Amino acid sequence: MNSPLVSTSKLVKEPYSLILGYPKATRGELARRHAELRKLGITKISFQGETILNNIHVLGKGYVGVVVLSRFGKKDVALKIRRIDSSRQEMKSEAKLLQIANKAGVGPKLIASSKNFLVMEYVEGKKITDWVRELKGRGSAAKLRSVVRQVLEDCYNLDNMHLDHGELSYIHKHVIVGKSPCIIDFESGSTNRRTSNVTSATQSIFIGSALSSIVKDMIKIPSKKKMIGPLKKYKHDQTRENFDDILEMLGLDKS
Ligand SMILES: Nc1ncnc2c1ncn2[C@@H]1O[C@H](COP(=O)(O)OP(=O)(O)OP(=O)(O)O)[C@@H](O)[C@H]1O
Ligand SMILES: [Mg+2]
Repeated sequence: MNSPLVSTSKLVKEPYSLILGYPKATRGELARRHAELRKLGITKISFQGETILNNIHVLGKGYVGVVVLSRFGKKDVALKIRRIDSSRQEMKSEAKLLQIANKAGVGPKLIASSKNFLVMEYVEGKKITDWVRELKGRGSAAKLRSVVRQVLEDCYNLDNMHLDHGELSYIHKHVIVGKSPCIIDFESGSTNRRTSNVTSATQSIFIGSALSSIVKDMIKIPSKKKMIGPLKKYKHDQTRENFDDILEMLGLDKS
């Protein structure tokens, strides 16, 4: 962490109350959230990151939460703060889904959770599309293949665990690449529907997205027509063998 740490007691007042209760919270709600944070063991926040809300830097913002870099003991962690206007009533369900993903070795490690907060491993890196854009300048096709392979292996492990992430067709929002790639945000996940992690991610990386056009410039990939067969086969029978056929078809089997 290189920006100063702000004590959580400062979050109940402006300007930081905007982050503790985004977009606007009552004094009562802010006080309750502050108590909840203390109980979780979070005492300090570091306002840094590429997203800026009213001059305050955060790691990111979505429709469910605002994510900030925090200190948990001696560790840097990511803290997802439930938005006041979120359609989710609590963060415990997301925490349970993340815990299942972790069992498959996927996602940022869950550290703690409560009604309005989720504490998880901080993933330092860039969103996959930005990462690929930067890599393109250096022309490293082998590195790209290896990262994509790792993402798809994670997807296969999630399929195997019967946990559907739910939003991997928007891969650009849900993979951060640092030392290795990490799938984030399991809030829309489910263990009750047919899993489509591998198929959604493959389509999102290789077919019809801003990311796929950069990927196509960097590595040779089969036509959409050729991709459909192995994807369909895997969709109906999610075996390792059928997954390996997808990797081979994409030229990722040796990555
Ligand atoms: N563990 C993490 N480490 C670092 N940054 C993170 C982490 N988790 C989330 N972020 C950042 O915060 C952003 C918002 O997080 P997340 O996608 O979980 O929120 P959300 O409200 O569910 O978003 P959406 O509305 O897109 O579903 C991410 O896009 C990412 O930039
Ligand atoms: Mg989300």
